[in-house]
Amino acid sequence: MEPISDCLCRYKDYVFEIGITTADYIDSLQNFEIRDSDIFLVTYPKSGTVWTQQILASICDSDCQDTRLGSNNMEKIPWIEYCAMMYCPDHALRPSPRLFTSHLTPALIPPGLKNSKAKIVYIMRNPKDNVVSYYHFCHVWEKLETPKSFDEFLQQYLAGDVEGASWFDHVREWITLRDQYNILFLTYEEMKMDLKSAIQKISNFLEKDLDETAIAKVVEKATFKNMKKDPRANYEFLSDDLLNKQNGGFLRKGTIGDWKNTFTVAQSEMFDRIYQERMGHLSLKFTWEMNGQPK
Ligand code: A3P
Repeated sequence: MEPISDCLCRYKDYVFEIGITTADYIDSLQNFEIRDSDIFLVTYPKSGTVWTQQILASICDSDCQDTRLGSNNMEKIPWIEYCAMMYCPDHALRPSPRLFTSHLTPALIPPGLKNSKAKIVYIMRNPKDNVVSYYHFCHVWEKLETPKSFDEFLQQYLAGDVEGASWFDHVREWITLRDQYNILFLTYEEMKMDLKSAIQKISNFLEKDLDETAIAKVVEKATFKNMKKDPRANYEFLSDDLLNKQNGGFLRKGTIGDWKNTFTVAQSEMFDRIYQERMGHLSLKFTWEMNGQPK
């Protein structure tokens, strides 16, 4: 792993936090045995990962009432790529159905996922809100460098010199290779605008037969307000040397269009040009600002 700063290192075109995993462990994922019943949540960082963990955990809790899953969402839906610093069980010993979280790209995720029945829920978020969320998170996550300014962080983000590497490559690669996977794409914004419909879509994709009452319970557990006070969901259980709770947490604002409070007009125009060059051909439909009230 080649260091690119005091906190980050590059491995096979991906960027990891130093000390969170090893090259050998990442390579070992190439032989990781996938089960048909596995469920993966895949995101680029700051796209609504902990939110969707809460949704998946609640759907599975209400469906199977399974107490083996763990006491918080990191234990219920552990990251597959981290073998140090974060919770890392022996996945081979976990009972089915196993839930995983990952920020990995198709090149690094276990290839056994291709053409298998295992399910992937991929959440993406408009990249202007994504980079602003990421910028604030750098002030909270102790293992990342605090940027000197938003402009400096924006340049790093555009260059892919942040954990998770390039947002543009991440989204493009997963979208382009979608036919090889059993994958559901959802956006942060559609979850925000109509949480119930998004939860229904996820629940249908997972082939979970939840009735109206069960869906309503999942919605209730996944609102921003309720997650903020749910210690199993909001990651406040992490130690102070990882999460600086005085500066904030995983749940910050939880809105669409907050980028307008941070981007200058010039930064926004530059971003739009780059977005068009790199993503224009994909015709993705992101919501960049809030129109009307969420349902
Ligand atoms: P903001 O920083 O814009 O508020 P991740 O989990 O991938 O790190 O993403 C974190 C982002 O998701 C943060 O965005 C956080 O507030 C938002 N988020 C988390 N739970 C949410 C919820 N229940 N509703 C809306 N947004 C939520």
